[in-house]
Amino acid sequence: MEFTDVIMSRRSIRKYLPDPVPEDKLRRLQEALRVAPTGSNRQPFKFIFVVSEELRKQVAEASPTQECLKQAPVLMVAACQKGRSFDTAIAVDHMILAATNEGLGTCWIGWFDRAVVAKALGIGEEYEIPIMVPIGYAAEAPGPRPRKPLDELVEVR
Ligand SMILES: Cc1cc2nc3c(=O)[nH]c(=O)nc-3n(C[C@H](O)[C@H](O)[C@H](O)COP(=O)(O)O)c2cc1C
Repeated sequence: MEFTDVIMSRRSIRKYLPDPVPEDKLRRLQEALRVAPTGSNRQPFKFIFVVSEELRKQVAEASPTQECLKQAPVLMVAACQKGRSFDTAIAVDHMILAATNEGLGTCWIGWFDRAVVAKALGIGEEYEIPIMVPIGYAAEAPGPRPRKPLDELVEVR
């Protein structure tokens, strides 16, 4: 896909088909995480791709009303050293754009019970869990959400 089309066509997807995500696509998403920039090149994070049905169920319990967590065949859980969620968000955005390029849907999930995820995946207290991302084929095609006009967001001085 042309790069501008990737950026412009990304949407938050909250309904997923059960179809599995091919390994080669997942590998390209993981590479996008790996090459992202980080402060002083610290790479202060771990990304856990949860594919086991049993584990996905346990992780989805962290936010039971968000059905997309139960539907998506892959849940990516980002864990990072405390105070390093900024670096993590950059890497996750790389992955999300790579997923769009692969024809996959994703959604940033920031509203969930961290303790439930930490327990399910055995993530230690030295880590934060800033974000989760369901990954899979979209079962909906939402249009663009409204955005503020450019002149409210950008100043050129
Ligand atoms: C940091 C962050 C946390 C978010 N958390 C959630 C969430 O818990 N649940 C959800 O459905 N969407 C969540 N979203 C998605 C936003 O609602 C969405 O990006 C916004 O409404 C714009 O829609 P779009 O992504 O389709 O352009 C989150 C987005 C970001 C960047």
